[in-house]
Amino acid sequence: MNRRTTDPQPAISERIRQRLEAKITERGIDKTAELPDSPEPIPALEAAQRRIPVAYRDTLPEHPDITAWVRAVAGSATAPNEGGLQPHYGTTGRRQIAHGPSLLLWGSPGTGKTHQAYGAIRALTAAGCAVTWHAATTADLYADMRPKAGVDVEHLLRRIVRIPLLLLDDLGAAKSSEWTEEITFRLVNWRCQNHLPTIFTTNLAPVRESGMPPGQPVLRDKVGDRVLSRLSGMCTPVHFTGPDRRFARL
Ligand SMILES: Nc1ncnc2c1ncn2[C@@H]1O[C@H](COP(=O)(O)OP(=O)(O)O)[C@@H](O)[C@H]1O
Ligand SMILES: [Mg+2]
Repeated sequence: MNRRTTDPQPAISERIRQRLEAKITERGIDKTAELPDSPEPIPALEAAQRRIPVAYRDTLPEHPDITAWVRAVAGSATAPNEGGLQPHYGTTGRRQIAHGPSLLLWGSPGTGKTHQAYGAIRALTAAGCAVTWHAATTADLYADMRPKAGVDVEHLLRRIVRIPLLLLDDLGAAKSSEWTEEITFRLVNWRCQNHLPTIFTTNLAPVRESGMPPGQPVLRDKVGDRVLSRLSGMCTPVHFTGPDRRFARL
């Protein structure tokens, strides 16, 4: 019998259908059973979770300025193909964070700055955004950048400055030199100019305020005026106060 092209066509040939049926029976799969209604795990959230230091894996942002920042960054996330040459192809995948404001979390040690910073990263991922992030203390960053055989430091710096979301922990805590100032400047300058969301934490007050003990260092002394100026332009400062939570456990 000749089949007309307008007749409904089977999706697969009879031979393949029979093989599929045999496999399904062999594996004991019940085709009529309802699919489980459990929420799908978010692989990105699980992957992000594994990279977060153990102490900060259950964190959530609590400070209103930090939750507002999460909303702002998630709100400006764009679909992968948005603005592409063929927008009619539609978009696939989760929205990716692109541009946004930055945060400067400052206050004495143990007040919860790093805790809230990881909370913000977790909240962005949980909000369904694809977040490519990197976290490092400034001391580790400088150590990685030290010129050594086999490491292309320029390449490393270029890669880090372009990371969509960067957490730079403990700014101003490492011993500073002209070289560290230059690395910090290039990193902050790039991210400032390209509006790349960055979370900075520091134990230091940004600038000297009246009533401060004269010997107490401030961030401006450590990073210099050029960096401080860019930080004040790009960041929402959030002041953390209170006792050292690490001592509270003793
Ligand atoms: N809101 C919070 N709830 C529970 N534990 C917290 C909270 N904030 C901080 N901690 C805990 O207190 C300790 C110090 O916090 P951390 O963020 O590392 O401080 P900082 O970065 O300001 O020095 C960490 O073990 C952290 O998990
Ligand atoms: Mg910290």
